[in-house]
Amino acid sequence: MRAFVTGGTGFLGRRVVRRLIERGDEVLALAREGSRSEDLVAAGATVVFGDLADVGPILDRVAECDVVYHVGARVQSHGQWDEFFRVNVEATQRLMDAALAGRAERFVHVSSLGIFEIDRDGLTITDTSDYDRRPTMRGFYTRSKIDADRLACAAVRSGKNVVVVRPGLLYGPDHPQQSVFLGRVKKFLRPDLLVVVSTPRYLLPLTYIENAADAVVLAGVTEGIDGSIFNVIDDPTLTQGEYFRTLGQVRSRPLRVVYVPVALLAPAVKAVDALHRLVKRRPWSVAYQLLRSERSTRYATDAAAARLGWKPRVGLREALEESLRKPA
Ligand SMILES: NC(=O)c1ccc[n+]([C@@H]2O[C@H](COP(=O)([O-])OP(=O)(O)OC[C@H]3O[C@@H](n4cnc5c(N)ncnc54)[C@H](OP(=O)(O)O)[C@@H]3O)[C@@H](O)[C@H]2O)c1
Repeated sequence: MRAFVTGGTGFLGRRVVRRLIERGDEVLALAREGSRSEDLVAAGATVVFGDLADVGPILDRVAECDVVYHVGARVQSHGQWDEFFRVNVEATQRLMDAALAGRAERFVHVSSLGIFEIDRDGLTITDTSDYDRRPTMRGFYTRSKIDADRLACAAVRSGKNVVVVRPGLLYGPDHPQQSVFLGRVKKFLRPDLLVVVSTPRYLLPLTYIENAADAVVLAGVTEGIDGSIFNVIDDPTLTQGEYFRTLGQVRSRPLRVVYVPVALLAPAVKAVDALHRLVKRRPWSVAYQLLRSERSTRYATDAAAARLGWKPRVGLREALEESLRKPA
């Protein structure tokens, strides 16, 4: 198999490249000029230099591959919408078109589980759940991931050989902040005291990076799954309380966690929101995200288990031990 991997220099893509090489595939990995790609070459990949902001020059290389793993994305919280649109939305469509018009038997799109409408506590998200109905309140990254997912799912519906993988929050070695801060978690005062704006019963949609890489590769190589959409979460029942208890056990120093319920902050958040509407003439997106963030959601992962044969190879404790291990 000849595989093309975008985002090969990234947290997830790097691991996907390595897995594919271990499988014996020939791998073409997209890298931007100046990005660290020496280890991909050392591992046996061919580096194709290019930019997702302008995919024209690389489309011929994409078209000559059997499977395309579209892992790359602008995963940042700053920047202009135009940049997010070109890199995350437009590039997805153009790569998908080039791959499927070429020799590709499959296009694997790596999406995200952050794209859904979560309007109440206790919702179960399946592969057909609605997108967030107010994407403009979610920041450019999530908004662009919603648009890209829409494109990939439209291709699925029109019978194209596309598979969509939607991982949860990724964490692992060399991303230590993800294993400790987890997005909404803010650490301050002392390193051993975490103040978490949420509740211990909140369900944490986590995917350990090695488990996510397993799912992405399976999505590319498993036969008979074209048109499938997979939610990929290690343990849909994992609560924040259990996560931090386990984190406290594997750390060398004890951890104290203080939970601040969102409801306690709601009056202040609503006041800032009102001020924001008055001054900037639009709602404050942080308020929307904060009020949305305490709603626990169950993500259905049955399809990944049944059709991909995926299950998390690395459990929480081992994953946290690996994540906290200092690089040699
Ligand atoms: N991280 C999470 O928690 C999470 C959760 C759900 C889904 N995802 C999705 O998983 C995928 C991988 O995320 P990640 O965590 O591995 O992110 P990452 O470490 O930031 O990797 C992103 C990759 O995309 C590449 N990239 C960004 N802009 C580019 C451009 N203009 N042209 C070419 N390449 C570009 C980066 O290249 P450089 O090395 O040159 O920057 C890097 O290889 C993304 O699609 C993301 O949306 C991530």
